[in-house]
Amino acid sequence: SAAPPEAPTAHPTAAIGQDYNPFDPAFQSNPYPFYARARNEAPVAYCPQFNVWAVTSHELITHVLKSPTLFSSLHNLEYTVVLPAEIEALLATGHYPHAPGLFNNDPPGHTRVRALFSKAFTAQRVAEMEAGIRTLTEGLVEQFAHQGHVDLVAGLAHPLPMTVIADLLGVPREDMHRVKQWHDSWMTLFSPQTPLEEQRVAARSCVDYQNYYAGLLADRAAHPTGDLTTALVQARVDGENPFTAAEMISQMMILLSAGHETTTSLISSLLYNLLRNPEQWQAVRDDPKLLEAAIEETVRFTSPVQMEPRVAKKDTELGGVAIPQGARLNIIYGSGNRDERAFPDPETFNVHRPQPARHMGFGWGIHFCIGAPLARLEARVALEVLRERLPHLRLAPGFMPEYEPSFFFRALKKLELVWDSQA
Ligand code: HEM
Repeated sequence: SAAPPEAPTAHPTAAIGQDYNPFDPAFQSNPYPFYARARNEAPVAYCPQFNVWAVTSHELITHVLKSPTLFSSLHNLEYTVVLPAEIEALLATGHYPHAPGLFNNDPPGHTRVRALFSKAFTAQRVAEMEAGIRTLTEGLVEQFAHQGHVDLVAGLAHPLPMTVIADLLGVPREDMHRVKQWHDSWMTLFSPQTPLEEQRVAARSCVDYQNYYAGLLADRAAHPTGDLTTALVQARVDGENPFTAAEMISQMMILLSAGHETTTSLISSLLYNLLRNPEQWQAVRDDPKLLEAAIEETVRFTSPVQMEPRVAKKDTELGGVAIPQGARLNIIYGSGNRDERAFPDPETFNVHRPQPARHMGFGWGIHFCIGAPLARLEARVALEVLRERLPHLRLAPGFMPEYEPSFFFRALKKLELVWDSQA
């Protein structure tokens, strides 16, 4: 529990703020008791350890999302970790410093990138992908269907969205494995728990990863195809490409990340939430109309993207708390989605909730998730194929959920399932 600070602090809400540590493994395994306390005691809580304000209520998060002129998305995700000079120097050996893209950008730059990528994610473009996604899913499921057991993360929830986003970007299938290694290594730079030796590896991976995308861009400039890398090199505003090479490469790195980690979590959490509540799994099997409700309820209940940063553009006020210009905010979707003022019985997973759900798991406003239709499609197809092929799935006896060490994503490390392989 929060001990009152010994000395008075500049911020009246610091008491609960001191307990906010999204890097702590105990916090990551179950952040919900903290969120519930924070919503009650101080929905805008200053956290001295990270110099951020944690925003936890549905109402105030919504206000921030609807006020992009007050709360900027132009942030540097590394802000939570101060990297040693040696690591910064290693990163600087690359030619492509991390640049604003979509989620970490404001208008007018944001509007330009969003217009370009939106074309790839329209309802029609996404619908056209369904047949390919189904074939891919059936192929993945067939590889383990005879086994009687699987870690669904490794067997389906990871390879499905990873392959889909790699195909969209135009990353050849044979490169997917090393792209994933570079990506995962790069991600470790965002955790203060990463040891120096690993940071060195990560910084080198980041540079290799950037150079790889630089090569792919050069290739598509010479040999255009229909992929997103080609769309980036061919983008024109007033006859010129509005993006620098560093911007294009950052956008590719972010898109690959946003396109797979989130959806990996959605698919594994969806199955976990349903199989933990066998009567709801049964209901979803009996009534296909409940599939979409189950997906939305998982986005609410699990919030694969737990939080996003914002930066105050000027002195302002939020929920009665003074916010100085330059203040960094963590808007915590994982908490807003469990707010008792927005959802009756919020801590219960319930596919029968009245629709439409007002969850904020895909964000809101100008930064609303551009990939939401694709994520929903992949999750629906995964569920349909599993329901059809392995209707008697259950959690492996004794399965205990463990979550990836991330302050940003909430994702199961593994999901061990069993079934009678003769069935
Ligand atoms: C934005 C969640 C899947 C690409 C967002 C945001 C959230 C989110 C919360 C808002 C960020 C903000 O407020 O700044 C999710 C979840 C997903 C998912 C929960 C799956 C379950 C995807 C997929 C893609 C994608 C499959 C790409 C293929 C993006 C991009 C943005 C974004 C590019 C930034 C949009 C902008 O700033 O204009 N997503 N996402 N997401 N998402 Fe997703």
